[in-house]
Amino acid sequence: MKILVVCLGNICRSPLAEGILLHLVNEKKLALKIDSAGTSNYHIGEAPDARTTANARKHNIDLSTLRARQFVVEDFDAFDKIFVMDKSNLQNVLNLARNEEDKQKVDLFLNISQPNANMEVPDPYFGGEAGFENVFQLVWNASEKLIEKHQ
Ligand code: 4NP
Repeated sequence: MKILVVCLGNICRSPLAEGILLHLVNEKKLALKIDSAGTSNYHIGEAPDARTTANARKHNIDLSTLRARQFVVEDFDAFDKIFVMDKSNLQNVLNLARNEEDKQKVDLFLNISQPNANMEVPDPYFGGEAGFENVFQLVWNASEKLIEKHQ
C-alpha cells in the first residue's frame, strides 16, 4: 500500500503527516510506503517550516530530513491513495486527474477519522503557534486511524 499526503506548500501539514505516519509505520513495522507533496511550486527543495518542525519535535516526531516537492501527475500511478488536507488541495489535485480511476484515489485526510464529514486541516502558515498544535492533533488522530486500518 502506497500513500501520498498532499497540502499546498509541502512545508507544514503534509510533511507533518508524512513524519507522523513514518513514525507509526516504523514503530509497528508495517509495509506501507509514505510520501508527501505540495500542489504549489512555492517551496520546492525546502525543509519543513521551522514552526512545524519545532512543534513536531515536542511530540517526538523528527521532520528534519524531509524536503518539499511538487505533486506531479505521475503520482496518480505511483500511489494507491492520495490524501489532501483541504478542499482547495482537493480541487487542485482533481484538476490534474486523467480519469475516474485517478479521481477515486483522492480523499480528504480527515475523512479517515471523521468519514464523510469533509473536514479540513486548516492552513497554519499565516497564523500563530496554537494553529500548529491544532494541526498536530488533527493529523495525529487521523494518522493513528489510518495505521489501525492497515495493520
Ligand atoms: P502547507 O502550508 O500547505 O501546510 O505547507 C503553507 C505553506 C506555505 C504557504 C501556504 C501554506 N505559502 O503561501 O507560501
